[in-house]
Amino acid sequence: MTNPKDSTGAQVPNPAEEASGSSRRNFLSEITAMALGVAGIGSIVVTTRYLSPNVLFEPPTSFRIGPPDDYPVNSVTYLPDQQVYIVRTPEGFYAESAICTHLGCITQWKPELNMIACPCHGSKFKREGSVEAGPAPRPLTHFAVRLTPDGDLLVDTLEIVQQTQVLKV
Ligand code: FES
Repeated sequence: MTNPKDSTGAQVPNPAEEASGSSRRNFLSEITAMALGVAGIGSIVVTTRYLSPNVLFEPPTSFRIGPPDDYPVNSVTYLPDQQVYIVRTPEGFYAESAICTHLGCITQWKPELNMIACPCHGSKFKREGSVEAGPAPRPLTHFAVRLTPDGDLLVDTLEIVQQTQVLKV
C-alpha cells in the first residue's frame, strides 16, 4: 500500500503507520536502555567482587582459656571453637588437639570410658592422646600451654610439644 501524495507530488505519511513506527522505535529504545542498564549493573558487581580481597578467616592460633581454677583437677574440657581438649591432671595442664590423626575427624571425649574416640573409623586414644586402637597412625598433637602475667592460661597451637610436657600450676 502506498501513501497518498500531496499537491506537490510528495508522499504524505500515513498517520497510522507513523504511530506504529514511533511505538516500535520507543520499544526498541526501551529494550536497549534496559539491556545497557543490566550490563552496567553486572559489570559493577563483577568489578566490586574482583576488587574486594579474598580473605579466609581462621581461628586465632594462640588463645586465652581463662584462669586455672576454671578447670577442676582430673577434668577434660573440650573447646569447640578451637577443637582442642584442655586436660588438667594432678601434675598440671596440657592441651591436645581434638582432630583425629587418621583423616582429620573431630574426636569426642568419652568420660565413661576414660578415652577419646573418633566417630569416623573407630580410632581410640588414651586421655593423654596415645593411640589405643587404629587406624589412627599417631597420637593426638599436644600444644604449648603457658600462664600469662595476669594469671590466665594461654594455648599456642603453633607450638607443638611432647606428650609428657605439662604446665605445673
Ligand atoms: S578419621 Fe578418625 S579414625 Fe579415621
